[in-house]
Amino acid sequence: MTLRNDTREKGPTPAPMEGGGAYNRHSQVQASGLEPAVEWLVEAARRVAIPPSPAVPVVADWGSSQGRNSMRPMRSALQALRERAGADRAIVVAHTDLPGNDFAGLFRTLDHDPASYLRSDPSAFPVAVGRSFYGPTLPPRTVSLGWSSWAVQWLSRQPCEIPDQVQVAYSRNAEARAAYEAQAASDWRAFLDARALELLPGGGMVVLTMAIDDDGAFGYRELLDAMYDALVEMSACGAITPDELRHMAIPTVARSAKDVARPFDQAGRCGDLRLRRTEVFLAADRIYDEFEASRDAQAFGRAWAAFSRASVFPTLAGSLDASGDATRVAAFMDALETSLAERLAAAPVRMRIPLVRAEIDRV
Ligand SMILES: C[S@@+](CC[C@H](N)C(=O)[O-])C[C@H]1O[C@@H](n2cnc3c(N)ncnc32)[C@H](O)[C@@H]1O
Repeated sequence: MTLRNDTREKGPTPAPMEGGGAYNRHSQVQASGLEPAVEWLVEAARRVAIPPSPAVPVVADWGSSQGRNSMRPMRSALQALRERAGADRAIVVAHTDLPGNDFAGLFRTLDHDPASYLRSDPSAFPVAVGRSFYGPTLPPRTVSLGWSSWAVQWLSRQPCEIPDQVQVAYSRNAEARAAYEAQAASDWRAFLDARALELLPGGGMVVLTMAIDDDGAFGYRELLDAMYDALVEMSACGAITPDELRHMAIPTVARSAKDVARPFDQAGRCGDLRLRRTEVFLAADRIYDEFEASRDAQAFGRAWAAFSRASVFPTLAGSLDASGDATRVAAFMDALETSLAERLAAAPVRMRIPLVRAEIDRV
């Protein structure tokens, strides 16, 4: 197994979601898990420190992608802040993501989407930042309220290859599991340290990310088995090389409530941050709900394959030798999507979707 110490090495470092608005169109799984965290965000918005005028309050959205799933939390947060800040006060909403993110898609969403918070809040001013959230994204002590959903499960880098899966949670390789666990712990700490600097004293944030549930389950088992089987078959028939398959991984991790709390001491403190509360819950599988209503197994397979394509195929494609060759990348993603959809349609099953929400204040 190769350890990757150089984050610039070719291989599966996280790639942004599929562009051209694809993530926006195929992220209903993520959308359906947001609500419990939005509740906490609204409560935080009623409480967090707002800087005195003429300073402009800042709301941050770390890992926004193309923005559709940010509209509901940002709209709700702004409504709650307006009760305190007044209708006319300018508020900046800073959407951050990796430099390669489809930021044009984000601004189109802000402009065109009927759910855009700009429709109801003309005094909100969106801006975008293309920098990793494992380092600084915004000036120190500026953020009153922060949000991050479905994003910090992405590691800053792939710590090592996974010899028998693309998702480490389903690998039997102890060395790979340990390396991912160590990377996850260090990334979570880096995320917290960076936010501690950016949050205004008295500010707060809500983080929603993939979880290990109370039974120790990562979830999505059937999806990930089908994806890996499809890749193995593509390798066997020469569509990808054994080396490409070996390099492929989805560098995401799930965290238990304990993992989230680990950097915090008994009093809930981690430097200037304080963990107010954290909770693991299961999100609904809307795709299976639709299957139960329609009994359309093909639609079930297509929906999970489209979700996978939009969110993780670009990272898998980063391990192709010709990852700069758009034609080969498109052919790879098309073939994997078709194979995955067929496999899932053969035996529709409800996916387990564990999530963890955490509310953290800057004291
Ligand atoms: C699954 S999307 C989540 C989008 C949206 N927040 C939602 O709830 O649907 C994850 C996003 O996190 C971004 N991301 C991953 N690693 C990141 C990093 N180190 N810094 C900033 N953004 C990152 C990805 O590019 C992607 O847009």
